[in-house]
Amino acid sequence: MPLVPKNIKELSPYKPGKPIEEVQRELGLKQITKLASNENPLGPSPLALEAIRNAEQDLHRYPDVSGFNLRKRLAERFDVKIDNVILGAGSEGIMGTIMRTFLLPEDEIITAQNSFIGFTVLAKASGRKVHWVPMKEHRYNLKAMATFINEYTKIIYLANPDNPMGTYFTVEEFDTFMEKVPERVLIIMDEAYFEFAQYLKDYPDSMHYRYDNVITLRTFSKAYGLGGLRIGYGFAHDQLISNLMKVKLPFEPSSLAQAGGLAALEDNYHIEKTVQLTQDGIEYLSRELRRLEVNTIPSSANFITTKFSSEKKAGDICQQMLKEGVILRHLKPFGWPDYIRISIGLFEENQSCLNAFRKVL
Ligand SMILES: Cc1ncc(COP(=O)(O)O)c(C=O)c1O
Repeated sequence: MPLVPKNIKELSPYKPGKPIEEVQRELGLKQITKLASNENPLGPSPLALEAIRNAEQDLHRYPDVSGFNLRKRLAERFDVKIDNVILGAGSEGIMGTIMRTFLLPEDEIITAQNSFIGFTVLAKASGRKVHWVPMKEHRYNLKAMATFINEYTKIIYLANPDNPMGTYFTVEEFDTFMEKVPERVLIIMDEAYFEFAQYLKDYPDSMHYRYDNVITLRTFSKAYGLGGLRIGYGFAHDQLISNLMKVKLPFEPSSLAQAGGLAALEDNYHIEKTVQLTQDGIEYLSRELRRLEVNTIPSSANFITTKFSSEKKAGDICQQMLKEGVILRHLKPFGWPDYIRISIGLFEENQSCLNAFRKVL
């Protein structure tokens, strides 16, 4: 009997965006612009930082297992009961709990091909049969995904907006899709970029639906600028939540994460500033990149994905941009070898990125 299952052996370890210090060391550059990991360029909410500092003195205590204060506040904010709310070490932490809680050995999973890599890894690690449904014109093809539903389907994962494409599916597409989904099938609605997309008229905010088989996942990692803290949250029917609570690691998320999240949730100013900066950045970068004849995909998240003529071209450009001190993300490991993703930065960072592109191209 092999020690490591085949599906785990075949997994590749996650390759994060290059850290700033590593690039500085390797290339001897002082000024580095990191636009590789969809982080908030404004940093964390100051209110969250203050709450974290205040919570430090209780670090010898274990965190509140029920995450009561933050769950209560989220329930109030989103007009649900506390029993409909779960917390986790990032929304990815909750995804992991969902996979451990609901999958039987014969269950199958459906998702889009080359969508969020975190879910791809969880799905592969689960050892279950997964139907990877190709996107159409860089968007989820819900119509095609629905045709894969069978008696074994247990989980369908949808990222809306998607990472790494930044595209979203509409109310109409979602409504038509849901008509074809049996109630026994769980939908994971990953809305990690919700704060950036919520203003779109035809964006289906899953919290307006209240389907009993939909689990909505959101995060403090993106618009709230707390990616390093590892805290996310989810909403679902209380029976789903109560089972997730049995399986979830009891002390996840940490006490600092709970305190930071609670404070960040009240910082509307920080969110508004972040969303505005992101929208302006997307507009500016898209316009200027188009001028340079770079093919951009319309984005509703906090990044723009660009398409080049070949894998070699995309890889070379990423390397040359790095030499200019700009860290971007070549999407080859995400299954999109001809593509580069650019996270939106501060205005000056976007400018540096464009200046580097002008040189490199
Ligand atoms: C679509 C999507 N979902 C989830 C996550 C992970 O979020 P968290 O930091 O909350 O685990 C990301 C992060 O990149 C993402 O792009």
